[in-house]
Amino acid sequence: MTHRRAAADEDLHMVHGEMVDALSAANPLRIGTRLERIPDPCQVVIFGATGDLAHRKILPALYNLRRAGLLPSESGIVGFARRPYTDAEYSSEMRASVEQHSRNPVEPALWEDFASGIHYQQGDFSDLASYRLLAERLEQVDAAAGTRSNILYYLATPPSAYPAIIANLGASGLHHRDGWTRIVIEKPFGHDLVSARDLNDQVMRVFEESQVYRIDHYLGKDTVRNLLVFRFANGIFEPIWNRRYVDHVQITVAEELGVEGRGEFYEQAGATRDILQNHMLQLLSLVCMEPPIAFEADALRDEKVRVLRAIDTDWTEQRIRTDVVRGQYTAGWLGDHKVPGYRQEPEVSPESTVETFVALRLEVENWRWADVPFYLRIGKRMPRRATEVAVQFKQPPLMLFREAMMQPEPNLLAMRIQPDEGILLRFAAKVPGLGPDVRSVNMDFSYGSSFLTDAPEAYETLILDAMLGDASLFTRADEVEAAWSLVTPVTEAWAHWDEEAAERPKAKRSTEGMIQLYPAGTWGPEAADQLIERDGRRWRRL
Ligand code: BG6
Repeated sequence: MTHRRAAADEDLHMVHGEMVDALSAANPLRIGTRLERIPDPCQVVIFGATGDLAHRKILPALYNLRRAGLLPSESGIVGFARRPYTDAEYSSEMRASVEQHSRNPVEPALWEDFASGIHYQQGDFSDLASYRLLAERLEQVDAAAGTRSNILYYLATPPSAYPAIIANLGASGLHHRDGWTRIVIEKPFGHDLVSARDLNDQVMRVFEESQVYRIDHYLGKDTVRNLLVFRFANGIFEPIWNRRYVDHVQITVAEELGVEGRGEFYEQAGATRDILQNHMLQLLSLVCMEPPIAFEADALRDEKVRVLRAIDTDWTEQRIRTDVVRGQYTAGWLGDHKVPGYRQEPEVSPESTVETFVALRLEVENWRWADVPFYLRIGKRMPRRATEVAVQFKQPPLMLFREAMMQPEPNLLAMRIQPDEGILLRFAAKVPGLGPDVRSVNMDFSYGSSFLTDAPEAYETLILDAMLGDASLFTRADEVEAAWSLVTPVTEAWAHWDEEAAERPKAKRSTEGMIQLYPAGTWGPEAADQLIERDGRRWRRL
């Protein structure tokens, strides 16, 4: 994220209509609506080029960058995977995916131009000889297209393939080329603290940290980036953004979706590893961090790491039992649509104790936040999709209007990350009329009605940043480890309790700390309500 980009976006909003027309007229292939720094030409090498992520996210993002004039025409894409494809076959399969998943339609002339840079190299991730062939191919493409030997590797494979790919990139000398060489690594980055450290070690044996871009797509969402803008580009919120004024914070990541054919993956991950360790802790860090000294990758990430390190990680077994709720959905209804329970999903064990819901209470033990509870909840098969950060402020010191309040609700600032992106401020207002009534009302900013432009997909923003060498929105090695330090004691305790329980007859199993079932289409198990109600608060109704 750069000052330059923010300034460019602002200028653009002022002259939006005219500028788009002028750009389109000057260059029919450039229908972009943003003035951005354009990266150097490069080759994007996608490992796992035939997989789901490449189809649904990476290729559509690259196409949209090209469409916006942000992917130089000399750039190339080299798909690398096991299956045999010709360049033409791969490119035509990608066209079908981009047609299906791109936020903009595929325009034939633009596609032809884009597709001329798509190549495919068959290879085995664990076979060094395949990397020698890849190196030859990259040289040919570079010589023909002029990518100045800049390379962006993208690991879009299952994580089990990462070690072999990283080691072979090193062994074949592909980790340092004449231009810049960077590597994007998808989540999950490890599955606990030990494995994340191992993976960091393997990466560091081959690459330097400045070459590594650990991706968490949440950070590429405009509304998540806006958390920083909201906090640090406005003067009026920062003075009250602390324990003196904030009563508590709730962060929710609720999805209607179930595991969507990813049963095998989800059985290994669960909501804690899938969302809490990464997306949720990123949101929490952005909400809690101190202002960075500059809007630059390391300054920003230093502050985020400080937040993670300030979180109370003294997870005694008793605290895990009382402050963390794990849930799993059973069959239920989403609207008028009946859906199966988690244990009935394909590739899921009928006895699975994997969590599809987590609610927890945390404290960030620093001067700004000491004693302010943070309530976090994540769930699949919730009644609706909603990601929101809600900051609830303390009641005024003297409730002068107590008698007149119809609903005495404290001030609240809710930042809607998705959908219906926007920000709501709740405050008390006098009800019109001769009486003294006071009621809570909402002031609501909505992205949809305030801006004419569509937000880019998170992957567009992040791939562009990686090509520009801006790591602000990527996770640093120490950050990923700090996040795992937070969640690993919890997942280890659960695994231990499950093992113990499995040895006991069903009738004698205690339910405390164990998986709590909730019907699909509800807001999670009752224990999640009790977790917050115990403190005299309640979850926001979304
Ligand atoms: C992914 C998780 O990282 O994020 C998925 O693996 C989840 O389980 C997804 O559905 C949510 O992201 P978004 O951007 O669709 O809200």
